Amino acid sequence: MSPTIFVIFGITGDLSLRKLLPSLLNLYVNKKLPQKFAIVGFSRRTFTREEFREHIRENMKVKPGEYREEDVKHFLDHMYYEQGHFDGRESYANLSGRLKLIDDGFHQCSNKLFHLAVAPSFYETILTHLSNSGLTIPCGGNEGWTRVLVEKPFGHNIDTAKKLDKKLGELFDESQIFRIDHYLAKEALQNIMAFRFSNSLFEPLWNSKHIDVVHIKLLEKNGIEGRGGFYDDIGALRDVGQNHILQMLAVVAMEPPKVFDAPSIRKERAKVLNKMRVVNEKKIKDFVTRGQYDGYVNEKGVKRNTQTETYFRIESYVDTPRFKNVPFFLESGKSLSENKSEIDIYFKNSSDLEKQNVLTFRIQPDEGIKIRFWVKTPGFDMKIEQKNLKFKYADSSSLQILPDAYERVLFDAIMGDQTLFASTDEVLAAWKFITPIIDTWNKVPLTIYKKGADNVV
Ligand SMILES: NC(=O)c1ccc[n+]([C@@H]2O[C@H](COP(=O)([O-])OP(=O)(O)OC[C@H]3O[C@@H](n4cnc5c(N)ncnc54)[C@H](OP(=O)(O)O)[C@@H]3O)[C@@H](O)[C@H]2O)c1
Repeated sequence: MSPTIFVIFGITGDLSLRKLLPSLLNLYVNKKLPQKFAIVGFSRRTFTREEFREHIRENMKVKPGEYREEDVKHFLDHMYYEQGHFDGRESYANLSGRLKLIDDGFHQCSNKLFHLAVAPSFYETILTHLSNSGLTIPCGGNEGWTRVLVEKPFGHNIDTAKKLDKKLGELFDESQIFRIDHYLAKEALQNIMAFRFSNSLFEPLWNSKHIDVVHIKLLEKNGIEGRGGFYDDIGALRDVGQNHILQMLAVVAMEPPKVFDAPSIRKERAKVLNKMRVVNEKKIKDFVTRGQYDGYVNEKGVKRNTQTETYFRIESYVDTPRFKNVPFFLESGKSLSENKSEIDIYFKNSSDLEKQNVLTFRIQPDEGIKIRFWVKTPGFDMKIEQKNLKFKYADSSSLQILPDAYERVLFDAIMGDQTLFASTDEVLAAWKFITPIIDTWNKVPLTIYKKGADNVV
């Protein structure tokens, strides 16, 4: 791997401290980073280099004793800080000077990975400044590529997503843009594709003739955890529906790609999302439920008269020949009774509707696969009872070390593999489905549910 510099905008933020830096540390310890690498953090606060490293060491979310002290120290030795403002031209000139110094130390023009771990409202400003300052220009030849990583939510609706995409397209080639949806990088989600296309037992049944209904759930015990200012402008549907939940749907409903490479897989996922039936405005009440947990209005940073949803449930349809008229129920909420992210596929049983086979993909926690089937209860009577076949990653010794999704994201970005990143077509197709719902669902009354509720509907 050639020398690489990670430039992280928003280095003191929650995402950097909780996900990006611990993932980079783990990649470093497992020797999955280039030998010559550096991390340059950018944010507003003033630190000396030493204060900065100390701040990161104290605030980076790693368990005490998880890593050897000397490994952490050596990792921190690769870190630099650049104080600045996202809208300050001078800050980018300073950043450019810093990157040049590091390159001089490497005796080579290095790869640059710009990670925008910042609120989406800053994307355009940062990207424009990056481009104007010449920082995104690769070194030339095969040396020193430049790539940019952006977080979800990508845009606020279809119009803003298109605008942002246009901006990105003016500044970068699609091969340089890595739109993160870390759900795609979850091992259990990747396994759905492997499971579907490698098991001849299931693939022939993967259609509307045999599948009755699909439930996709992302349920959380936590509320908004002090992030009211951010969340209240976004709500559950934009926060996880437009991205994670629709990506789960895409891997369940996609056609087998011609070849298993990034462009073909991304194309098939986008095709499915483009085939989602737009929810009819007049019938929105029949297809959509939105809810808010009791007490949300009193959370810090939330508007007192807020109508933002912390829960949604949508009955959706994918109009492809394979899945025509199979309902896909998409559900997510905060402050519920359990943490669970899973996909349940119910198979038809024409002789006994009560006794369906159900295939469950558990994404988190307890990643695994479960099949519900029916057997005779031992004894003289012909009674039938339910049993489960289960596979848990945790029980499988060869699979015990599941890479964290962010580690995978960062590693793939260095390797230039875009399979587990959302393409422009996927993002826009997802907004095409979500935007009409957001635009009209004020017609659907907000259901107030108790914190810790099992069910909202
Ligand atoms: N947090 C998560 O778990 C999570 C998960 C997935 C995606 N995301 C996405 O990741 C992005 C970042 O979220 P976050 O929770 O990490 O945000 P955050 O905690 O609010 O962090 C914001 C960062 O941006 C810096 N900053 C803000 N305004 C600035 C300015 N004008 N100039 C320079 N630096 C400035 C802050 O630096 P100072 O400390 O100097 O103010 C801080 O480092 C968002 O797009 C979010 O949607 C977050």
